[in-house]
Amino acid sequence: MAQIKARIIGTGSYLPERILTNFDLEKMVDTSHDWISARTGIDERRIAADHEQTSDLAAAASRRAMEMAGVAPDQIDMVILATVTGDFPWPSTACLVQDKIGASNASAWDVSAACSGFVYAMASASKFIETGSCKRVLVIGAEIFSRIVDWEDRNTCILFGDGAGAVVLEGQEGEHGILSTHLHSDGSQWELLYQPGFGSRYPASVAGIEARLPFLKMAGNEVFKMAVRSMYDVAVEALQANNIQASEIAMLFPHQANKRILDAVSKRLKLEDGQMYVNVDKCGNTSGASIPLALDEANRKGLLNRGDLVLLDAFGGGFTWGSCLLRW
Ligand code: UT7
Repeated sequence: MAQIKARIIGTGSYLPERILTNFDLEKMVDTSHDWISARTGIDERRIAADHEQTSDLAAAASRRAMEMAGVAPDQIDMVILATVTGDFPWPSTACLVQDKIGASNASAWDVSAACSGFVYAMASASKFIETGSCKRVLVIGAEIFSRIVDWEDRNTCILFGDGAGAVVLEGQEGEHGILSTHLHSDGSQWELLYQPGFGSRYPASVAGIEARLPFLKMAGNEVFKMAVRSMYDVAVEALQANNIQASEIAMLFPHQANKRILDAVSKRLKLEDGQMYVNVDKCGNTSGASIPLALDEANRKGLLNRGDLVLLDAFGGGFTWGSCLLRW
């Protein structure tokens, strides 16, 4: 029997309307456009409107992906949503999205792997498809980080943005689709990037709010170094497993964390100009949404051609990291 691969047959994304520029941030914390631009490559990011929830962003991106794929909501067998900023701690935001888009025949669940979430979700989806358990899986990354960043902490609030991206994966025979996935974690480093409250360790309390526990904490320097090393290592792992050279990659989609991280990974992989897709300047770090957002942007610009080798490469809290190589 011919092997089934999970192939992307549609992509979609959604960015909230409101743009927050570095100049806007100058009025909020002690920072400057020049510092942010030089240290991160970010010029602006999108901020969700008060009435928008993560499930709304996810549903909007999903509708666009399904439209491109020519797939009706009831043809989706599974919805996997990568997010760490869901509407509620539970139920899963994927269930809310399933309802919003009318994917009535799908099972739905969230993946919690921070900025690596979309790659984790793609790896999971590919296994359900390759084993024949599912024909079509909707894989989404959606985040509203603006609701969990500390707007008084200039070290972190300048980095993040809101958005969503989605892909429809379909099981097909042939050469096209996901060729490999590699996932890694190092739970010993959790404290370098996390959101302390509120969970079982720090249950909700007034004292916890006063201690700013609901806001994310990050040791930027350590995260930076680990991100470069891990994204490089896992990209090389994918290349070696598939017996290909970095020069054969048509487009690498890294998690859009910081332009300096991306430049360092690109340099170590000896990529040519244009081989790595970068939109962190306009979107900031949208965590689990960043890779599918970039993928949809590139796809709609016509930058991806049938047969192209495309590499997704992520790193995030946990720590978690991973890659997904696919033939377009
Ligand atoms: O998605 C994965 C998660 N996150 C990341 O990948 C982020 C990884 N880390 C980074 O991107 C960088 O570490 C940052 C952009 C967060 C910081 O850049 P850095 O080059 O590592 O700066 P730093 O933390 O070494 O700070 C340098 C200086 C400090 O001042 P002093 O102590 O040298 O006087 C900071 O207080 O820059 C200061 N600083 C700022 N100055 C103006 C920190 N944030 C700001 C700011 N504006 N927004």
